[in-house]
Order: sequence, then structure tokens, then C-alpha cells
Amino acid sequence: MRTIRVETERAYDVFVGAGALALAVDHAQGRQKRAVLADETAWKLHGNGLNFGPQCPLLLLPPGEPAKETAVLHRCWEFLAASELTRDALLVAFGGGAALDVAGLSAALYMRGIDWIAVPTTLLAQVDAAIGGKTALNLRQGKNLVGAFHQPVGVYADPHCLTTLRTSDFRSGLGEVLKCALLGSMGLMELLESHAGALVARELELTGKVVAACASLKARLVAADPLDRGARRELNLGHTFAHAIEHVAGPGCVPHGLAVSVGLILALALAEEADILRDATLTERTRRLATSLDLPTSITQLAQLAGKPLPPEEILRAMDLDKKTLADGLRFVLPRELGQVERDAAVAPRRVLRVLQAACR
Ligand SMILES: NC(=O)c1ccc[n+]([C@@H]2O[C@H](COP(=O)([O-])OP(=O)(O)OC[C@H]3O[C@@H](n4cnc5c(N)ncnc54)[C@H](O)[C@@H]3O)[C@@H](O)[C@H]2O)c1
Repeated sequence: MRTIRVETERAYDVFVGAGALALAVDHAQGRQKRAVLADETAWKLHGNGLNFGPQCPLLLLPPGEPAKETAVLHRCWEFLAASELTRDALLVAFGGGAALDVAGLSAALYMRGIDWIAVPTTLLAQVDAAIGGKTALNLRQGKNLVGAFHQPVGVYADPHCLTTLRTSDFRSGLGEVLKCALLGSMGLMELLESHAGALVARELELTGKVVAACASLKARLVAADPLDRGARRELNLGHTFAHAIEHVAGPGCVPHGLAVSVGLILALALAEEADILRDATLTERTRRLATSLDLPTSITQLAQLAGKPLPPEEILRAMDLDKKTLADGLRFVLPRELGQVERDAAVAPRRVLRVLQAACR
């Protein structure tokens, strides 16, 4: 079992490895009252690992993104109240990033905040969403528009849960893993380069090692910047491009992590174009690694996946809608070298367009 400390105002541990679910049960048994909010699919596949006994109240959430709706949040609160949870109770959140987002927000607001632990069951949730206390809901007007910061009091990640993920969901998590490698988490790049095939095959020991490396990176950035106002923004590497591509493709047409993979290649190309990238080999190295992780590297590949063209001009226009864009131009997180980024690089739109056009060839 690997343990990573997240040094926030109230520090907590992330446990990664076989047996993490049993540790989550131990943690929850320490409380008089507890309840579980779980993604329905994840619970059917892995809920038997969280054996709280028949008396523990359980509410199953709609699988995936549909859980992040206001009506579901309301149902969660009523369930917590009907289960007579008091302020000293513990809420257990079980599932992918979507289930954790709504469960975390339920915990943040019920009785002005109760403790919760996260038991992430997707790759993306284990390497990213479960750590750092960001919780959110979607509105018709956009994703994650309503939310709160509410740190969990423990995170329990068992890589065995990932063996049942659909290939598309696992690959989506790999996009974020590739981002962590570029941000320089503990020799992760070298580890992935030498074992990409074993990770794609979800070999358990390796997967645990990779999840722990990514979790350490996230823990470090969250500790440095709990409210996402500075250092933590490094985690947006590749995301300005990814969000714009997802917007042009339309909801659900391109899995987020695959858009992130292409976004990372575009961020590297833009860093070269803007004379920010100091290591000229990094772009090709990342492209090779993405390919061996079975991830796309060009807009053309994403357009094939979406079954529609993704014109560079439209992607550029969509970036103006991105919340990270300031009035004085387009702002990006751009790599300088492995493990180092410029957090707030301003680049002229014509240069961005040139990079987008090159990625469509
Ligand atoms: N709070 C944060 O810091 C943060 C960070 C990144 C992403 N997010 C959010 O996370 C969400 C995406 O999360 P995700 O990629 O985990 O997807 P997800 O939660 O939508 O889950 C994807 C699918 O996998 C299923 N699933 C879950 N666990 C499974 C398992 N072990 N085996 C088989 N199927 C399983 C789910 O039912 C769902 O159908 C987005 O809403 C995003 O906004 C939040």
C-alpha cells in the first residue's frame, strides 16, 4: 500500500493499492453514523469490497455525468436527512469523478458541511478528481458551474477497480496520466516510456505505482494552492485546447482525456512557436509516449472519432469562451521543459491558429 499525505488545513492521506477498500471500511467504522453515495455501475461491480453491513444507508447515483444534476443533489440531501445523519457523521463517496463531485458537494452543504471520504473507481478519479476537494454540478449553461471546495478526510484508491472500466474510460484517464508525466511527477515519464504496454494492459502493480505518482503530484499542487489561484493551475496544461476541441465536437463526442492528449501536443507545439520550450526533444518524446499509450496526437484523429470536421478557426473561437481566457489575449499553461511550465503565457491568436492548422494536416 502506498500512502500520500495531502497537507491542507486539515491534512489527509491518499491510500493506493490492494486493500484500500478495506481501509475505507475501517475509517468509516470509526464513526457512529455513516452513509454511502455510490455510482450505480461501480457499486454493482465493486460494492462488495465495501462491506459496511446491511444497516448502512446506501443511495445509488445514476452512472457517470447524469449524476451531476441539481435534482440528484437534492435527492442526496433528502437521503442524508432521512438516514438521520448528524454533523459528526461520515459520508462515503464511491465511483468516478462524476459521483465524487456530487457526493462531495452533498457533504459540503448538508448541515453546513460533514466529513466525507472518497473511494475513486475510475483512473481519472484516482489520479485527479478524488484529491483536492473540488466538488461541482453542471447547469444547462455549462459544466461545473456550481460547486464548493470541501476536502475529503481520506482517499482510498484500489487499482483493482480499474480492471472493469470500459476501454474508453480507461484511455480517458490515461490522458491525465500523460499530463502528470509532463508536469514531472517523480520520474513518471521514464516509468511510462518503459512500461506503456503493461499500463495499457492494466497490470495491477504498475497501475498502482502510476496512480500513486500522479496522486503525489496533485497532492503537492493542492497543498501549495488549496483554492486553485496559483500553482494548482499547472494542472490545466493542455486543457485550454482540450475544452475548445470538446466544445466544437459537441457534448460527449470526444472523451475528455483524449482531447487532453491532443491538447498536450498542441501546448508543446505552441510553446515551441512562442519560444518558451527549452527542450526541443520533448514534443517528439511526448508524441511517441502518447502513441504507445494508445492516445491520439492530432486534431485529425479526434475529428475521425467525432465523425465531423473540427476546423481550426472554430477551435480558436471556442477558446474565447474558455474561462481562463482574459480580455488581453489568449492565456495558456505552456511547458518550458520536463517538469516545468509557464503558468500564464500570453500568445497572439494568429500564432495559436498556425499551431491548430498544423495539427489538422
Ligand atoms: N473535482 C475534481 O477535481 C475533478 C477533476 C477532474 C474531473 N472531474 C469531473 O470528473 C468527471 C469525469 O470523471 P470520470 O472520468 O471518472 O467519469 P465518470 O464518473 O463519468 O465515470 C465514467 C463511467 O465509468 C463508470 N464506472 C465507474 N467506475 C467504474 C468501474 N470501476 N468499472 C466500470 N465502470 C465504472 C461510471 O458508471 C460511468 O459510466 C467529470 O464530471 C469531471 O468534471 C472532477
